[in-house]
Amino acid sequence: MHLWRIIKLNYLRVLTNKGITILQSVQDYISDYFTKNNEHLSKFYPGITSSRLLLAFSDTCKVVGSDTYLGQGFEFFKDLERGKPLEYIDHNAYFYRSNFYVDKRVLIPRSETEILVGDALNIVKKNYHEEYSIAEVGVGSFAIGLSLLMDFDKKINLWGGDISLDALKVAEINLFRHQSRLHPEASVIIEKSDRFEKLNHKVDLIITNPPYIKVSAGKVGVHIQAEIYEPKIALYLEDGEYDLWYDDFFRDGSLKLREKGLFLMEGHEDCLLDLKEIAIKYFNHVEIKNDYTGRQRFLHASL
Ligand SMILES: C[S@@+](CC[C@H](N)C(=O)[O-])C[C@H]1O[C@@H](n2cnc3c(N)ncnc32)[C@H](O)[C@@H]1O
Repeated sequence: MHLWRIIKLNYLRVLTNKGITILQSVQDYISDYFTKNNEHLSKFYPGITSSRLLLAFSDTCKVVGSDTYLGQGFEFFKDLERGKPLEYIDHNAYFYRSNFYVDKRVLIPRSETEILVGDALNIVKKNYHEEYSIAEVGVGSFAIGLSLLMDFDKKINLWGGDISLDALKVAEINLFRHQSRLHPEASVIIEKSDRFEKLNHKVDLIITNPPYIKVSAGKVGVHIQAEIYEPKIALYLEDGEYDLWYDDFFRDGSLKLREKGLFLMEGHEDCLLDLKEIAIKYFNHVEIKNDYTGRQRFLHASL
């Protein structure tokens, strides 16, 4: 059966194998597609359901326009065949109670990063004062920083930097999308910056999910879809630069923190213990925290 054309929002004109055109509801079409392609879908989209697929299809059509012709090779289904991440197909990533626009310019925010946001929120609630300031390094889609601001209904100053201008454009889209959910007095600045290069004030909290995979480890450890579709600059650091990159990062981060400030970072389970040794040169306390599966994934440092 060939998908032919969306004729109304909820119906498709479908060309059957016998050459007859029939009308089929979008729900039925997606449900059939889901059943027929279950093996492939489960391989590339573990845990996917027919309703998630339907949502992705509807969202994609909203972007493309409902009057688009859909031959058998309609991009949506081609992308599914290729195993392109669903978030890059429908440009939606759900993260910490909100929906973020994403495309190939940014990393798809991961669910484990929500742990970082949850920890940060507890810290902000405990230590809040009128001039509370946060810096996020490597904003990408800005899912971390904006989630923090949307979940905390008091004035916060947030500075966000990213070395990638492309990523900053996506961060801007999400800032615009969620602007109305921020506290009216919240102030947000995003700018191109290599780590702390452009941050010219001290902050109470630094939060970051920097690139943390060594190029050599990436060849074996990274999921093939991440390797193909996600921006390299968001994932990798050269092996030979790794320790020095983090040494500079921790040193500069410690200098940007106010008294009692905290530095929260996501990292790679194979590297965090080594990074702790570097961080302890600049911070008084450094702790490694686990994710829900018990893997060492986060570093908390304080002065
Ligand atoms: C792992 S992604 C995290 C994106 C987002 N914060 C998230 O958690 O989904 C790392 C981000 O750091 C940015 N980045 C890489 N090197 C950087 C650098 N030297 N300075 C600032 N940002 C950098 C990348 O462009 C990317 O957006």
